[in-house]
Amino acid sequence: MKFTYYGHSCFLIDTGTHKLLFDPFITPNDKASEINIEAIEADYILVSHGHEDHVADLEGLANRTGASIISNFEIVSYFGAKGIDGHPMNHGGSASFPFGRVKMVNAIHSSVLPDGTYGGNPAGFVVQTKERCFYYAGDTALTYDMKLIPEMGFDLDFAILPIGDNFTMGPDEAVKAAEFIQCNNIIGVHFDTFGYIEIDHSAARRQFENQGNQLHLLEIGQSVQV
Ligand code: NI
Ligand code: MN
Repeated sequence: MKFTYYGHSCFLIDTGTHKLLFDPFITPNDKASEINIEAIEADYILVSHGHEDHVADLEGLANRTGASIISNFEIVSYFGAKGIDGHPMNHGGSASFPFGRVKMVNAIHSSVLPDGTYGGNPAGFVVQTKERCFYYAGDTALTYDMKLIPEMGFDLDFAILPIGDNFTMGPDEAVKAAEFIQCNNIIGVHFDTFGYIEIDHSAARRQFENQGNQLHLLEIGQSVQV
């Protein structure tokens, strides 16, 4: 499975058979100016919540690639009215797709679409494919609900956690989240994009190492096998 980072909380997971894009926000991100958005392919676009820094490029990418959205009912309905195909979900529900099974889980945050339309409740996703199981937390605070993920039998190979502080968890909470979800392979997102969320990379990595866990902070455009 290949993970490619497009900056902020936008990344692509290539399962080998399907391309899953998460929270597309590239063109407004100055730090991601090297990314050629026209070259991105996607079969599905998973959206954690309605904030602009998670949906800015959703419409354009969905229209060009023909990808379906997987998100909450409100976001899928909103883009559905623009002619974009989607699969609505809500917290606690799971659904099967050609690439595997997706469970929508709780996130502690807010959600409104860029034009002020109600964006439903923010969420995270647990994705179980034939080869891998992973968790994308979306934008969230640390929450005891994360403990339910391993308790429900998900054996995570890796997890994508927000780590930039201010609007989401910071490194202190993300270290604790890794413990709650029983996962030692963490990819950090939602950091350094703008002033409020700049972090000290080596200090954050050290905090994870002290716990026996690994924090990956990728360069924008970088791909890794996961
Ligand atoms: Ni947000
Ligand atoms: Mn955000």
